[in-house]
Amino acid sequence: EKGEYRHFMQKEIHEQVRSLTDTLAGRVDFDEGQIRLPQLNLTPDLARRIQKIIITACGTAAHAGMVGKVLIERIARIPVEVDIASEFRYRDPIVDQNTVVLAISQSGETADTLAAMDEGRKRGAVLWSIVNAIGSQAMRIADGYISMQTGPEIGVASTKAFTAPLVDLYMLAVLLADLRGVLDSTRRKQLVSDLRLIPDLVGRCLDRENEIIPVAREMKYIRNMLYLGRGINMPIAYEGALKLKEISYIHAEAYPAGEMKHGPIALVDRDMPVLAIAPQDPWYEKMISQIEQAKTRGGSVIVVATEGDTRVPELADHVFWVPPTPWLLSPVVTVIPLQLFAYHIASLRGLDVDQPRNLAKSVTVE
Ligand code: F6R
Repeated sequence: EKGEYRHFMQKEIHEQVRSLTDTLAGRVDFDEGQIRLPQLNLTPDLARRIQKIIITACGTAAHAGMVGKVLIERIARIPVEVDIASEFRYRDPIVDQNTVVLAISQSGETADTLAAMDEGRKRGAVLWSIVNAIGSQAMRIADGYISMQTGPEIGVASTKAFTAPLVDLYMLAVLLADLRGVLDSTRRKQLVSDLRLIPDLVGRCLDRENEIIPVAREMKYIRNMLYLGRGINMPIAYEGALKLKEISYIHAEAYPAGEMKHGPIALVDRDMPVLAIAPQDPWYEKMISQIEQAKTRGGSVIVVATEGDTRVPELADHVFWVPPTPWLLSPVVTVIPLQLFAYHIASLRGLDVDQPRNLAKSVTVE
């Protein structure tokens, strides 16, 4: 039931404090600074044997995988590729028994993702999945899995089933790093204790919903939008753009911000609003100069920035504030205002937010 909310999507956006609390429950031992993911069947021997992880998924789940690449490479120092599931198996991929194929899927029934898992299996890979729907195919055929503890997701646009796997991937990265002996205990304890903050930080983003609605109202008739991000927040640009296009039918494009000068900056003018994701992460300075360039050429600039930032407000037309967050977890908070922004634009346009045209919740055909 939707309760006090107008749409399931809005309800599910607000459920993220709860779903992220549940994501941590039973997995994180804050006293010992340890992660426990028993259903993954990850032994120390397997952890040391892995030479490569290929994350395969579609749509929003693939964007979570792109964040996972940064997390696993940074924390566990294992090379990670992210492969769109519908591409993976048609490319004669290089996979062997020291490769993990890790599928991410809310429904666990996406045909392309299942086909990619089958391809991994045929080539002898270890198969893992991060899945929401209990008992789904992607859970059953895996050698090990992490279940998203989000509960059923009804809105076609995925929200809480995006942030849960971000945290799952972070926990996986810490566990892998620990088992491979690449993490000293001080750093491990720090990474683990940072997780405790997440539900509250997400709650603080949700508390700012009323600041996003007037911006959505001002922008509800735009025709195009450009989303920019870098580093660990580059995939959040893709995810923000996907949310906007799928429920509001506004054309939105995402780019790694550094790519702008290689072509897309030509698009920027008064009719091309830019949304830049610029929290206090290692790419912040680079993002500021990108925002300056967009601003001198164009119209409205919206920036997702960290509370207390004094430079962004001088440049931006609108700021979506997020609380200070350890940068490896920052995508979990920066995506929240983008979910709300897309939701309110679609809702103000009077669209069927939970059932957008041409889309199904679970894509079981190839
Ligand atoms: C977008 C969205 C889709 C799904 C994609 C994969 O909001 O929901 O892009 O993420 O169809 O679905 P699952 O995760 O069920 O495999």
